[in-house]
Amino acid sequence: MSDLFAKFAPVAKIRDDILATGVSDPYGLVMERVESPTVAICNGRRTILLGTYNYMGMTFDPDVIAAGKKALEEFGSGTTGSRVLNGTYSGHKECEKALRDFYRMDHAMIFSTGYQANLGIISTLAGKEDYIILDIDSHASIYDGCALGNAQIVPFRHNDVEALEKRLKRLPPEAGKLVVLEGVYSMLGDIAPLKEMVRISKENGALVLVDEAHSMGFIGENGRGVAEAQGVIDEVDFIIGTFSKSVGTVGGFCVSNHPEFEILRLVCRPYVFTASLPPSVVATAATSIRKLMQGADKRAHLWANSKRLHAGLKQLGFTLGTDEPQSAIIAVIMPDLETGVHMWEALLEEGLYVNLARPPATPAGMTLLRCSLCSEHSEGQVGEILGMFEAAGKATGCIS
Ligand SMILES: Cc1ncc(COP(=O)(O)O)c(C=O)c1O
Repeated sequence: MSDLFAKFAPVAKIRDDILATGVSDPYGLVMERVESPTVAICNGRRTILLGTYNYMGMTFDPDVIAAGKKALEEFGSGTTGSRVLNGTYSGHKECEKALRDFYRMDHAMIFSTGYQANLGIISTLAGKEDYIILDIDSHASIYDGCALGNAQIVPFRHNDVEALEKRLKRLPPEAGKLVVLEGVYSMLGDIAPLKEMVRISKENGALVLVDEAHSMGFIGENGRGVAEAQGVIDEVDFIIGTFSKSVGTVGGFCVSNHPEFEILRLVCRPYVFTASLPPSVVATAATSIRKLMQGADKRAHLWANSKRLHAGLKQLGFTLGTDEPQSAIIAVIMPDLETGVHMWEALLEEGLYVNLARPPATPAGMTLLRCSLCSEHSEGQVGEILGMFEAAGKATGCIS
């Protein structure tokens, strides 16, 4: 009889080899107490958080918390039902209205997570006979959306405009085509050349979906993302986003101006066949989204933090994912997995948490220490972070 677990042996071996070096499990960290968007207690000590995606620091916003408490008291702890049955409360409609106002789009549909938003929208739009043309470094939820819909997948080289055009031109002109892009690619923190890619996609008869998970709230004059910053938001057919990053809670969404969008509510399985978000979550999300509309000062401070950390790490001698800061994600490239794990642990002992990322999640087999800044990090904290990187980098031999 075949062992169903045998296929996990390579991953188990990597984990066991790492643990055999004596380091603590990088995927087993517990946040014992969370004091603010930028500080938690881990292993009993004060730890600066630099790997949370809490870009706009909304998790402890007093208005957001008050809205969540009120909804919890007034509507209970959960909806116990699908959006198309008993799971649509006034809070879900208000949250969708907040999204429509934020993006200035006609339609908004909320999912239980961003993962499910990609899964649902992509699999529903593009079925067996259709083509999905996507950047090879796309997020797992995008790939899983392609697989669920059984679409033909046509990947192209990361951020390569010519490769996208070549792939599109080779496809049958009459076939259904969906081009799927991301605003910010979360592993290296680089942004997509959306202006050119959206134009080429449209010239070749494709609809365009952009996942703006890592840019909402921060990038673009009004925080609408990279498509806004590059002046093509009106040409994008679908924007996917999440509440688990800048919005500071949990949930996902799709916004669109497509005239037939609303039919998706009846045919999108990851929307129909799951319970809707709890009232407290949609209330916190709606309040947060409306506050992000007034987030210009926070955006400016976050850019300043990003630039300062990027320049400081470069000066210390670390190799970074981008030459210039392009987003609030700064990826520090490690020479190998073992060094990466040791550096991750050394930083934690200094009092700094970053994300450790490794293959298969990372491109080109890289091990990365991914730093994501928050608008609530003070200048002083950015200075502390640089000091910690210097100490840990020297102790582990990453820098001299
Ligand atoms: C690009 C991208 N899309 C979608 C998601 C999924 O978001 P969520 O955490 O809401 O499931 C993520 C989360 O990491 C992401 O990075």
